[in-house]
Amino acid sequence: MGIFYHSATNTFHLTNGQISYLMKVLPNGALGQLYFGQAIRDRESFDHLLEMKRRPMSSCVFEGDSLFSLEHVKQEYPVYGSTDFRHPAVEILQPNGSRITDFVYESHTITKGKPRLQGLPATYCESDDEAETLTICLQDKILDVSLYLQYTLFAGYPVIARNARLENHGKQDLHLTTAMSLSLDLPDSQYEFVHFSGAWSRERHMKVRRLEQGIQSVESVRGHSSHNHNPFIMLRRPGTDEVSGEVIGFSLVYSGNFLAQIEVDTWDTARVTMGINPFGFDWKLSPDGTFQTPEAVMAYSCQGMGNMSRTFHSLYRSRLARGQWRDKPRPILINNWEATYFNFTEDKLVSIAQAAKEDGVELFVLDDGWFGRRTNDWTGLGDWEANLERLPGGITRLADRIDGLGMKFGLWFEPEMVNKDSDLYRAHPDWIIHAPGRRTSHGRNQFVLDFSRKEVVDWIYNAMFKILSQAKVSYIKWDMNRSITENYSQALPADRQGELLHRYILGVYDLYDRLNTAFPHILFESCASGGGRFDPGLLYYAPQGWTSDDSDAIERLKIQYGTSFCYPVSSIGAHVSAVPNHQVNRITPLSTRANVACFGTFGYELDLNQLTEKEREQVREQIAFMKEYRQVLQFGDFYRLLSPFDSNFTAWMAVSQDKRTALAGWYKTLNEVNGPYRRIKLQGLNPEYSYTIDGGDSRFGDELMHVGLLTTDSAAGERKPEEPASGDFDSHIFVLKA
Ligand code: DGJ
Repeated sequence: MGIFYHSATNTFHLTNGQISYLMKVLPNGALGQLYFGQAIRDRESFDHLLEMKRRPMSSCVFEGDSLFSLEHVKQEYPVYGSTDFRHPAVEILQPNGSRITDFVYESHTITKGKPRLQGLPATYCESDDEAETLTICLQDKILDVSLYLQYTLFAGYPVIARNARLENHGKQDLHLTTAMSLSLDLPDSQYEFVHFSGAWSRERHMKVRRLEQGIQSVESVRGHSSHNHNPFIMLRRPGTDEVSGEVIGFSLVYSGNFLAQIEVDTWDTARVTMGINPFGFDWKLSPDGTFQTPEAVMAYSCQGMGNMSRTFHSLYRSRLARGQWRDKPRPILINNWEATYFNFTEDKLVSIAQAAKEDGVELFVLDDGWFGRRTNDWTGLGDWEANLERLPGGITRLADRIDGLGMKFGLWFEPEMVNKDSDLYRAHPDWIIHAPGRRTSHGRNQFVLDFSRKEVVDWIYNAMFKILSQAKVSYIKWDMNRSITENYSQALPADRQGELLHRYILGVYDLYDRLNTAFPHILFESCASGGGRFDPGLLYYAPQGWTSDDSDAIERLKIQYGTSFCYPVSSIGAHVSAVPNHQVNRITPLSTRANVACFGTFGYELDLNQLTEKEREQVREQIAFMKEYRQVLQFGDFYRLLSPFDSNFTAWMAVSQDKRTALAGWYKTLNEVNGPYRRIKLQGLNPEYSYTIDGGDSRFGDELMHVGLLTTDSAAGERKPEEPASGDFDSHIFVLKA
């Protein structure tokens, strides 16, 4: 493994036996891209990969030379303004009105390990042997601006993590209007573009389309990564499936506005760019100013999408997520939101917790409505003190009572928001994001605090600190329930208004970081009206996220399946809720609700007191099951077997690291009469091991993977003698033990 620099040809080769990434300094000093893919052997020169052919009508860089046109070479971090007419990775508006730049190779360093990114979330390594980092410095001599492109190669992952930093050493104020985290020119466009799009309560549905000439993209301009699109895309070769074929996953470690764009030119090369969305972005780079882009991670697989996903799962679970909870199986929780909404008393909450404790639940989470005068969603946000009318002993006494039951206590906050009917807003009306003299739009009757301002973040930190240092709180659900509009900060000068949404996210990260540091024992779960900010940026601070407000088991199949392409099961918040389901009114079996939720950070979101004794018995069994297998479910290797986007059946599985235990979840949407014989081919088993299935018959791993596991369902979903008939929405988790 290593990062090689061949000085005679000015070539960089990053290779770890799994992947190779090749770059070369071009004749004009810019950085060219030669190859990203399966590892190839190193050599002094890869100059033959730099194809240059004379093409009519091309604009060429050097007078007297008709070969070298930037339009026709693959580049690493392209600029606009010379001979390339595709979209650039960086654009700088200068005082004279020019946007032309010319970044020329200056120097580079290769270091062990991976440096931290100041103020931004990023993957990391725990020892210097885990990674090497190449930093290439390029210079625009006229502006006296340095561009540092940083590439980390991990020893154990087919991954390149990269970012860019700009430093203004000149004397002029500059405006950075585009600064992408990655740009990758691919030699052809024979790919399918896969993205994960949706809306509130139907997040991350998988969408696939052929790449076509022209620009195709997904993005957010909402101030958060959004329910609508996720900062994760894939390019896969046609025919690629879970186990075979070539695919590259692109993931942006960022929670704000993003753009993931592929531009296919009319010669069918494909330029992928990803980073902060240039739409509305304008960062003033004063003399001595620096701008650091977020990190982007590219993962390569020539063994299908499953392999790529497991790369992201492992990297993000253990080298992006941090803290005391990183490697720990997650507590089984009960959340009161769908049980009570705003309608609760202290005794009611304790009665919910008590029933849950009897059944084995470990953590009680008090959701929205405990603070200020918050009895509906018009009031109270911003006033982070307990509502003593509903909770006469405050959070401290409630937390003590929960503690007395032998459970941990968790609390909901929505730190970034304020209602106009709140003491905070009355004291600081200028603290919300709004444009002077214009109407302020609301979302759920609430307004967005200007987290680009340190005094605002400080105020919220102090309010949260006070509660958290008084009460025994071991978990926080951090919610965020609206997109940002009328983007304008009272605290920023006119020529810095384009910085607001990035500064806002930096403020969010800062608050998370301070709380992580002050309360390292607290497990954070991020949330944004469900999965409106489910991204790698927040995984750095909160190792799990509330995946969606849609808690219906059948809807969740698609949501969790789509989410699993990039994000590990240990990050996927999933609860068993009541029926009829509150979002879609569907009635599903209690078993299926649990069978879906246990491929996530399992919990309940209903009042268990409302269940029958028979159902309570089932709940106790589910919790015992989860406690026995959560290590495998949350930290094992995850395999997708059948897609809910393709058929009536969904299947996925988790395999322990030693391959001795596997859990295969099988889910049927609608029942069918006298259907065909069916099998699912399992994955990830040891072919040599003989596995018992549900404690009964055994089969060898090779048979289960190549012939398949019989799932013919003419009788019953759960296949328990006491539950004879199978119906709609049935499911089963097969337990395989070597
Ligand atoms: C939206 C979240 O996604 C829900 O789980 C719940 O916490 C509500 N907000 C509370 O207002």
